[in-house]
Amino acid sequence: MMKLCMLGLAMAFATQATFAATAAPPLQDKQAFIEHLINQMSVDEKIGQLRLISIGPEMPREKIREEIAAGRIGGTFNSITRDENRPMQDAAMRSRLKIPMFFAYDVIHGHRTTFPISLGLAATWDMQAIAKVGRTSAAEAAADSIDMTFAPMVDIARDPRWGRTSEGFGEDTYLTSRIGQVMVESLQGSSPANPDSIMAIVKHFALYGAVEGGRDYNTVDMSLPKMYNDYLPPYRAGLDAGAGGVMVALNSINGVPATSNTWLMNDLLRKDWGFKGVTISDHGAIQELIRHGVAQDGREAAKLAIKAGIDMSMNDSLYAEELPGLVRSGEVTQAELDQAVREVLGAKYEMGLFKDPYLRIGQAKDDPKDVYADQRLHRDAARDVARRSLVLLENRQQTLPLRKAGTIAVVGPLADAPIDMMGSWAAAGRPNRSVTVREGLRRAVGDQARLIYAKGANVSGDKAMVDYLNFLNFDAPEIVDDLRPAAVLIDEAVKAAQQADVVVAVVGESRGMSHESSSRTTLEIPAVQRDLIKALKATGKPLVLVLMNGRPLSIGWEREQADAVLETWFSGTEGGNAIADVLFGDYNPSGKLAITFPRSVGQIPMYYNHLRIGRPYTPGKPGNYTSQYFEEPNGPLYPFGYGLSYTSFELSGLSLNSKTLKRGDTLQAKVTVKNTGKRDGETVVQLYLQDVSASMSRPVKELKNFHKLLLKAGESRTVSFNISEDDLKFYNSQLQRVAEPGQFNVQVGLDSEAVQQQSFELL
Ligand code: NOJ
Repeated sequence: MMKLCMLGLAMAFATQATFAATAAPPLQDKQAFIEHLINQMSVDEKIGQLRLISIGPEMPREKIREEIAAGRIGGTFNSITRDENRPMQDAAMRSRLKIPMFFAYDVIHGHRTTFPISLGLAATWDMQAIAKVGRTSAAEAAADSIDMTFAPMVDIARDPRWGRTSEGFGEDTYLTSRIGQVMVESLQGSSPANPDSIMAIVKHFALYGAVEGGRDYNTVDMSLPKMYNDYLPPYRAGLDAGAGGVMVALNSINGVPATSNTWLMNDLLRKDWGFKGVTISDHGAIQELIRHGVAQDGREAAKLAIKAGIDMSMNDSLYAEELPGLVRSGEVTQAELDQAVREVLGAKYEMGLFKDPYLRIGQAKDDPKDVYADQRLHRDAARDVARRSLVLLENRQQTLPLRKAGTIAVVGPLADAPIDMMGSWAAAGRPNRSVTVREGLRRAVGDQARLIYAKGANVSGDKAMVDYLNFLNFDAPEIVDDLRPAAVLIDEAVKAAQQADVVVAVVGESRGMSHESSSRTTLEIPAVQRDLIKALKATGKPLVLVLMNGRPLSIGWEREQADAVLETWFSGTEGGNAIADVLFGDYNPSGKLAITFPRSVGQIPMYYNHLRIGRPYTPGKPGNYTSQYFEEPNGPLYPFGYGLSYTSFELSGLSLNSKTLKRGDTLQAKVTVKNTGKRDGETVVQLYLQDVSASMSRPVKELKNFHKLLLKAGESRTVSFNISEDDLKFYNSQLQRVAEPGQFNVQVGLDSEAVQQQSFELL
């Protein structure tokens, strides 16, 4: 009923909006409908559509509604309830042309329900689980009147100093592309016009993850082959999956800011890739062109941005201030302005808003009484995905799983930290809804075991750092220090450990340490927490480290102290329950790292699929003029694709069905995987390829496929992979995508290092 009314309203709108002699074309004809609308619009109304504003304290609500009614705002972000957004849509319906608003939000890893951070989602290597995250997030966000999300973020991150490493899917092009595709498909469903779908905006176009030194907002300088082979494919995969838009990155690329980069947005995105959706600047990015040193004033910045292809300006007043004059003087043509407007209106059309501006807002009588209500959460989904994201890094003498018996000491600054459970960009998630590790363990053991808790240490002993991190949260400080001296906190934890049979220490980073604008110079756990670990180790009790962090940490020393190490990222609303499931063996861990863990910050960049070199490191031969650092062992602490299980798996008998591959044909690689342990468990069989000799140096190996599968204790299964010419292609130095004839190595493993190998020749 509601839908029919709205359709009627939209049709009425389409007719009312007709000021020209011609009749409004039917809504079904997208192109004609939009062109007709553009013909009705004044220059000011067109410029209004390009304005995306943040709802915050800067502008009073009433003023915003006036602006909308005057046709001066196209969309907003950060207002996330139906009763907040309805009056704005009402204002749009009072505007002369009644062009609907859209409402956007950063729905990155959940909306009301917080799932693990993206780096944790990637560690599931489980596309069904990831699709569940996308679908659930979209449905929850749509139910809160959100039409669009600025996600997925598919920036490849190979420098873990970068705080936004937490927001992406790791270092690998193939894995990130697959996840980006699944995220877009699941957020948008069969159409972004569905009432329970939201439009996906792929970000940050492009190369944001490659900022120099891992320092946020820094420059990016990169060769074209590296760009095309490693960094661009995930954005392309998201767009090919149908993402409605692109958010343009804050960084410059080879000297030209992405926001004013004609090559990036016009030549590559529009012409080469044929992208037809909307482009949105990042927050304030047009203004920043002045500070980048490519525009001398706001007028030039606005002109550069629109000419380069930025349709919508996010929280940046320059389009509104400067475009009227620029269009009047002819410096920006009507055609350029119309093109930007066309894409914005096109996105609104695709989101179903012309058909029904209230599609996701609904009627007031149906608004949720309590938007925070627990019944609105999807706890089962959150727990299921969270436990799949956990990566078992160490497990000496089968310390894990723990028994639900005796006394367990739960210590550490992150053991009972509801805010940190959620990770950064936790959207509409609320800390008081998240289950901490302490709480998860308590629920798991019930009265079968005794739990003793002690904080043991603050996250950091550095007050300046804590003050910095507290900028994240306006409502309450992120980090509340225990003001007792560090030694007193440690003593308390040691006393707890002494009474216990086993110690679970939850340590790592507060969520703000892995966030936008949170780049680090070290990958170490802060010193006060290391002091705690040392004191716990000295008790001689079995020590389980539960890590929380949003980037790889260099934990070479910590892993020597611990009997078991479980990487849990920031695992979301149900994180504590999921961690308890794994610690007690109610779930057998199956996560695999989507990013390499270096031994030290000095090894960065360290990623598994680096190019081959003339003098590769040869172990066991010191001073042999091969590529290495001499102060510490070479190679990663934990390689890409690594993760243990409570059972063991064995790969054997890798075989190819042919020694040659003809173009257009398919080759099959087969391998047997056996669960050789006593528990059922899942593992990920990973396929890597290496081009042995090519017209340019190629990576030592590259992930090209994987299968995640569940094997019962003792069960064997044959896994097969098809390899085609397409898997062998790369961009050569002329940027042609080619597969060159010659030998290729096929490597299959349960991580990227311990692999079996066979070869074939591409004819
Ligand atoms: C800035 C961030 O870079 C971007 O990822 C985010 O979507 C916007 N702010 C909006 O919150």
